[in-house]
Amino acid sequence: MSGQNNLGVNDQQLLRNSSYINGSWQSAGTYFSVTNPANGTQLIQVINADIETAELAVEAAKNALALWSATPANERAKLMRNWFDLMMAHQDDLGRILTFEQGKPLAEAKGEIAYGAAFIEWFAEEGKRVYGDTIPAPANDKRIIVLKQPVGVVASITPWNFPNAMIARKAAAALAAGCTFVVRPATQTPLSALAMAELAERAGIPAGVFNVVVGDDAKGIGKVLTQHPDIAKFTFTGSTATGKKLISQCATTVKKVSMELGGNAPFIVFDDADIDAAVQGAITSKYRNAGQTCVCTNRILVQQSILDTFTKKFTEAAAKLTVGDGQLAGVDIGPMISKAAVNDVQQLVQKSIAAGANLALGGAQHQAGECFYQPTVLTQVTNDMPVAANEIFGPVSPIIAFKQEADAIAMANDTEYGLAAYFYARDIGRIWRVAEQLNYGMVGINEGIISNAAAPFGGVKQSGNGREGSKYGLDDYLEIKYLCLGGLDR
Ligand code: SIN
Repeated sequence: MSGQNNLGVNDQQLLRNSSYINGSWQSAGTYFSVTNPANGTQLIQVINADIETAELAVEAAKNALALWSATPANERAKLMRNWFDLMMAHQDDLGRILTFEQGKPLAEAKGEIAYGAAFIEWFAEEGKRVYGDTIPAPANDKRIIVLKQPVGVVASITPWNFPNAMIARKAAAALAAGCTFVVRPATQTPLSALAMAELAERAGIPAGVFNVVVGDDAKGIGKVLTQHPDIAKFTFTGSTATGKKLISQCATTVKKVSMELGGNAPFIVFDDADIDAAVQGAITSKYRNAGQTCVCTNRILVQQSILDTFTKKFTEAAAKLTVGDGQLAGVDIGPMISKAAVNDVQQLVQKSIAAGANLALGGAQHQAGECFYQPTVLTQVTNDMPVAANEIFGPVSPIIAFKQEADAIAMANDTEYGLAAYFYARDIGRIWRVAEQLNYGMVGINEGIISNAAAPFGGVKQSGNGREGSKYGLDDYLEIKYLCLGGLDR
C-alpha cells in the first residue's frame, strides 16, 4: 500500500484497496477516495469497480457454486471457523479500520467485529443441522421426502452503519447453506469488507465463494446484482425507499429476496418500570453508533406520572456523553457519516421545535467538527411531529407523554415500520399484554440491546422480510425440494 496512510494497522495486508473477485484483487482502474468522517481527511484510494467487474464477480460465484455446495457441511464449517478465529485474532486492527472509515468509537467498533464474527461462528455450526423431512404419504406405494438445498448464488448490498456485521450475518448464513456470495459494500466503508475478504482467503475459503465488489456506480452495480439471471437470491440492508426499488428490480427475474429495512423504534416506559434501568437502556439503545442504527430507539414514550422523573434523569445522562473522534479514549459518540446526515437531523429537530417541541438538550452541530451532532433531547413531542414520525438516524431523543397503556400501544404501532420496539415494565400481566400487541419483529423487554447471532433479527410491515441470525436465518438461503418416491410395493 505504498503512498497510502497505514492507519496504524499492525497487519498491513488487511488494508486492501480493490475488489476481491474469484480469489484475486483487482489490479487496475480509476480510483475513489475513502475519507475519515471525524475530520474529512482521505484514508485511502480504492480502485473503482464498474459494471463489468460486478458481472465478473457473479460469474466467479456461479463457477464456484458446484464445488462449494457439494462440500460437506462439516468441511464448510471448518473453513468458516478458521475465518471466525482470524477475525477475532485481528479484532484490534479490524476495529481500528472500522472506526477510521465509519466513525464509531473504537470500543464499539471492536464490539462490532466480535458481533460480526459471532454470526460466522454461529452459522458454521448451524450449517451442519440443515435437516430435511419425511412426511407420511396419502398412499402406501408412495413416500414423501423433503430436502433442503442451497438457493445458489447470493448477491447483497450492505450499508455503512455496520461495515462488518451486516456483511457477516448475510455471508455466514449463505456460505453455511452452501451458497456462494457477492457483496457490494457501501462506498463510504469498503475497507472493512475488503479486510474480511483478506481473512476469508487466509481461512481457506475457496476462490469465488466470497466476492467483494467495491464501486461507486450504485445504480449500475445494483442492477447487475438485482437482475443478473445467474443470481438466485438478493439480500439488502438499508432504507425502506431503496429496498422497495431493489425489490422491484429483483422481480424481473423472480429472485428470492430478504430485506432488512428502516425502523422507527418506540421505547415505552411504564409507571411500574425500574426508572434507572429504563434510563440506562434508553441511553444505550438511542446513542450507540451516534443513533445511526435501524433498531435505535427513535421515540421515547413515557407514562405521565413518571414523566418528570424520567426526563430529568435521562437528560442528565445524555448530557454526560462525550462526543469526539472515535479513535480517542473515553469517547461515547463519534461523528455521523457525513455533513449531509447532520443537516438532515438538524432539519428534523428544527421542524419539530417549530411545531411545538421543547429543546431540553443539544440541538445543534457539535464543536468537534462538521460531521458531529450534539446529543439532543426534545420534550413535549407529539407522535406526529417530524422527529417522531420519521426515522431520525442521529443522536436525538424525542420524549412523548402518554396516559394509558392502550394509548402507548396505539402510538407505538402508528407507523409504517415494524422492526424493533422496547418497553420497560415490571407487572408480568402488562409485560405479556404489551409484548403481544406491539406490531414489531423484535421487542426488547427491560432491555435496550437485543441484537445477537442466536436471535432472529428482522422486521414486519415496511421494515422488511426474512430473518437474519438464529436457526431461522438459514431458511432464506435454502430451497425446499419435495421428492415423491412412487411405485413402491407394501
Ligand atoms: C442495523 O442497523 O441494521 C443493524 C443493527 C444491529 O444489528 O443491531
